[in-house]
Amino acid sequence: MSHQTPATHRPLTTALAEAAAMAGHAPSVHNTQPWRWRVLPEALELRMVRDAQLTATDPAGELVTLSCGAALHHARLALAAEGWTATVHRLPDPDEPELLARLTDLRPTGVDPDAMRTVQCMQVRRTDRRPVSDEPVADESLAAVASAAVAEGARLEILDRDQVLQLAAAASHAATVEAEDPQLREELAYWTSRAGGTGLTPEVLPEQAPETTVPGRDFGRPGSLPVGPGHDRAASYGVLHGDEDTPLSWLRAGEALSAAWLVATRLGVSMVPLSGVVEVGGTRQILRQVLAGLGQPYLVLRLGVADPAHAGPPHTPRLPRDQVVDTSAVDGHA
Ligand SMILES: Cc1cc2nc3c(=O)[nH]c(=O)nc-3n(C[C@H](O)[C@H](O)[C@H](O)COP(=O)(O)O)c2cc1C
Repeated sequence: MSHQTPATHRPLTTALAEAAAMAGHAPSVHNTQPWRWRVLPEALELRMVRDAQLTATDPAGELVTLSCGAALHHARLALAAEGWTATVHRLPDPDEPELLARLTDLRPTGVDPDAMRTVQCMQVRRTDRRPVSDEPVADESLAAVASAAVAEGARLEILDRDQVLQLAAAASHAATVEAEDPQLREELAYWTSRAGGTGLTPEVLPEQAPETTVPGRDFGRPGSLPVGPGHDRAASYGVLHGDEDTPLSWLRAGEALSAAWLVATRLGVSMVPLSGVVEVGGTRQILRQVLAGLGQPYLVLRLGVADPAHAGPPHTPRLPRDQVVDTSAVDGHA
C-alpha cells in the first residue's frame, strides 16, 4: 500500500527519510550524533550507535540514550510538520536494546503549522556557551519551557538561589574529578579534535572560561569563540528530572530536552546542557538531594537571554545525511 499526504503529495517513504534527516539537527553529548535511522516501506526505526557511546564519560549509556531521545522528538515533530502522525514504540524489542524506537501506523493528517514553526527552530537552535545577557528569563517563558518538558514525560525544576549555589559547588567538584581522570581527558580530547562532521570544533568552544555562576564544562582546550567580559548572573538553572532511572526514562528525557529546547528557542531563550554533574556518581547524588527527593536527575540546564549585541557561535557540524539515514530498504520503491 502506498500512502500520499494530501498536503505535500510526497510519498510516505520520502517523508520518513526527510524526518530522519531533519532529526540530525538534534543536540547530542559531545556532538557524537549517536543515532542511525532505517527507513522501511511503512515504518521508521531509530538505533543507537554503540561505537559513539562515551565509554568513560557515560559507561551506562544514559547520555547516549538521552541524545537519541532528542533526535526521536525532532523526527516526530518533522513528521507532524509534514502532515503525518505515527505510533511510537519505544524499546520495542528486548533482544535488540540498540533499537530505541520504531514509528509505525503512519497516517496522513493535515500539516501542523505549529509543528512547522517548531521545525524552523530546529535549524536555528544551537548551544551557545557564552555568558548570557543581564536580562533575566521571563517567568512565563520558564513556565512554557518547563511545561514542554512535562508534556514529554519529564520535569524541569527551576532552582532557587540556594539550590543554584549547591549546584555550583557540585559542578565545580565534578569538573575537578573529571579533570583528574586520564580516560575522561582522553575521550574529551578525541571529541574536540575530530573532523568529518562529529565532535566539537574550536569555533563553538569559548576562547577562555566564561564568567558563570555554575561552571560550564572544561573542554580541556581553548576554542576561538569570543566570550566577552559578561557574567551570567541573570541566568536561571534547572534540572531535568523524572521518576525512573531506566533506558526508557533516559530516552523520554531526551524527548523532553528537545521539546523544552525548541520552545526555548522560539521564545528567544538560550539553553546550555551541563551534564558533568550527572556524569560523576557523587555529584549526581548531591543533585538528588538538591531536588529533595523529587526524582532522578537527567541533565542540568542553564537558561538565559543571549546577548543581542553579539552574534552567537556558528552551528556545530553534522554528519552527512547518507551516514545516518539508511534508505536501502525502500530505494526505488518511493
Ligand atoms: C546529553 C547531553 C549532554 C550535554 N552536555 C554538555 C555539557 O556538559 N557542556 C556543554 O557545553 N554542552 C553540552 N551539551 C551540548 C552538546 O555539546 C551540543 O548539543 C552538541 O555539541 C551539538 O551542538 P548544538 O547543540 O549547537 O547543535 C550536551 C548535549 C546533550 C544532548
